[in-house]
Amino acid sequence: MKRRLEPERLDELPADDPAAIASRRDLVLINAVMRQPAMLARALSSFPQPRVLLDLGGGDGRCLLAAARRLSWRGVQAVIADRQDVVTAQTRTGFAALGWDCTVRRGDVFDAVTELDGGTLVTANLFLHHLDEAALRRLFALLAARAMGLVACEPRGGAFALMASHLVFLLGANEVTRHDAVASVRAGFADRELSGLWPKGWDLKERRGLPFSHLFTARRHAL
Ligand SMILES: C[S@@+](CC[C@H](N)C(=O)[O-])C[C@H]1O[C@@H](n2cnc3c(N)ncnc32)[C@H](O)[C@@H]1O
Repeated sequence: MKRRLEPERLDELPADDPAAIASRRDLVLINAVMRQPAMLARALSSFPQPRVLLDLGGGDGRCLLAAARRLSWRGVQAVIADRQDVVTAQTRTGFAALGWDCTVRRGDVFDAVTELDGGTLVTANLFLHHLDEAALRRLFALLAARAMGLVACEPRGGAFALMASHLVFLLGANEVTRHDAVASVRAGFADRELSGLWPKGWDLKERRGLPFSHLFTARRHAL
């Protein structure tokens, strides 16, 4: 299935729109059903503890917090990079309880990645699929020049995930989520699509994550 990008409704709604708030709540449940935090945590635990964990398109931070709770790391600076600052006090308290600090880097992810340094490990959960091939190549080149690595957990493209994306109403998802779930899978990944866009000379892993995910890990040699 060839990737097809279309605008997602959550990206266009103001942060305080009730439908956006409800859709971000839906995402917590969808992430849990897709096992995204568990898969992120497992892939992250194969890296040395970073000084900074930068989450691209990190939204309200609850997915990264759920992953952080599965790690034994302490004293990490979590930076949520997103166009909207929707991280609640409760989520910040959750990070603090783990001994992590949480800040929001509001704005476009491309601005955030130009600021990062070599002590930074980068995550992306349900974010990379927003980008077309040229933007992914540009993002990966910036990350490869600066970061320790990238762990991304994205929607898997293909008929099985597409069928499931039409069923998110069964989870009580609202209209925004129902639209975006289908759009996300149409823009999802398969095979070694992301590896082909990453600069040469890195350790790359790319595979299906059951049931509906696509996992990509890029690690600088000798880490
Ligand atoms: C599907 S949501 C995923 C949020 C979060 N990672 C999660 O799993 O709950 C995608 C997020 O990407 C953000 N976003 C989309 N394009 C962006 C960009 N170019 N720069 C920064 N944030 C962006 C949106 O605001 C939204 O919060």
